Amino acid sequence: MIADYAEVIHDDRVHGSLYSDPEVFDHEMDRIFRRGWVFVGHESEVPQPGDWVTRLIGLEPVIMVRGTDRTVRVLSNRCAHRGTALCWREKGNSRVFQCNYHGWTFGLDGSLRGVPHKAGFERERAELGLDRPRAVELYRGFVFANISGDAGPLSDHLGAGGRELIDRLCDLSPTGNIRLDAGWIGHRIQSNWKMWPESDEDGYHVDFVHISMLRTTQSYYQDTIVGGEASNNSRAVDHGGGHSELDMRPGYKSQLSWLGVTREKVTEYCNAMVRRYGEARANRLLWEGPPHAFIFPNLFLAELNLARVEPLGVNLTVHYHTAVQFEGVDDQFNRRLLRQSEAALGPGSFIVADDAVTAERMQTAFAGAAVGRSSNGFGAAWIDLSRGQKRERVDEQGRRIGHVSDEVTNRAFWRRYRQMMRAK
Ligand code: FES
Ligand SMILES: [Fe+2]
Repeated sequence: MIADYAEVIHDDRVHGSLYSDPEVFDHEMDRIFRRGWVFVGHESEVPQPGDWVTRLIGLEPVIMVRGTDRTVRVLSNRCAHRGTALCWREKGNSRVFQCNYHGWTFGLDGSLRGVPHKAGFERERAELGLDRPRAVELYRGFVFANISGDAGPLSDHLGAGGRELIDRLCDLSPTGNIRLDAGWIGHRIQSNWKMWPESDEDGYHVDFVHISMLRTTQSYYQDTIVGGEASNNSRAVDHGGGHSELDMRPGYKSQLSWLGVTREKVTEYCNAMVRRYGEARANRLLWEGPPHAFIFPNLFLAELNLARVEPLGVNLTVHYHTAVQFEGVDDQFNRRLLRQSEAALGPGSFIVADDAVTAERMQTAFAGAAVGRSSNGFGAAWIDLSRGQKRERVDEQGRRIGHVSDEVTNRAFWRRYRQMMRAK
């Protein structure tokens, strides 16, 4: 039993039991995934009326669906009669949702439409629609939900930092719109979900965990992230609200490094960018590329990939990723983005596999941590997050900034986490 999360989350260290204690997991599902804003999906995944995808918000199964009025809604994927899940597949298109148990049907807006043999029911139909999160909002096509409705406006949750990160990704598309319709690959990993925001935004581990990738492929990571503070000027940035970034822009040696090409190879794309933004802004966007950033608590803007984590239990997580696709470019260009995503994160690549092994090794190491929580000796299982704490600085916008290999980003995550977990 943790009386106060401040006892196990300090600015520079956190306790290992936070990854392995089932009670902590229960609190997270309530305080972070029910009471806070959570990324659900992108509206491009459901382009036509009746299109739907299934997701989890914490442990709550939901359906993200486009209605006949073209509004994107998030509905509980739990029949209002006796609770059977309505949609079993990952995606589909339906005119109504029909439950397979007793045949109740629900409209795309979640309202109850039909009850077989209804004579025995006295309740009003209006009472028996599907549950919905109290708040659903979109930002540039990204759909977020807050189940309890207590989290305030989405714009407060994202803050200027979170909005800027999403803007920087979307602005790389010549229409300003991205698509996330290339399909998701899920990796099921026996680790706590928090290993993922931590390693996604860890600029310190790449030299070690990802050495096989570095040895076998040409990567701009050589210029931007490998080798510690002596070798590059990339930055770790705490954008506030738990959102953080490994900012590799200072490390790039040429325009379009992030795409691994020169301008001649993608002329049409560059011309389309100039038409939309003008020469100066297009040049800057093409130099800077997409962010490598985390939006609290479950969305990872992984440069040209996008990832989300679904916690299934205290030591079981699914890490999903998909290739970012742009609007306003030809199919060949989007295929390039898809191939690049497959090479970086796909099942035949190194990155997720190497991070997964490390996450599972950490999880094993924390198995007994809850037992040793009160002791300070062997088994206390504190983890250290102090790297670069003394040398981080605060810029004019209030962002904490350090070298890309510093644990600024991890401290940003835990600061927000502590705040949410302490709220009673
Ligand atoms: S549980 Fe869905 S109709 Fe009975
Ligand atoms: Fe990694």
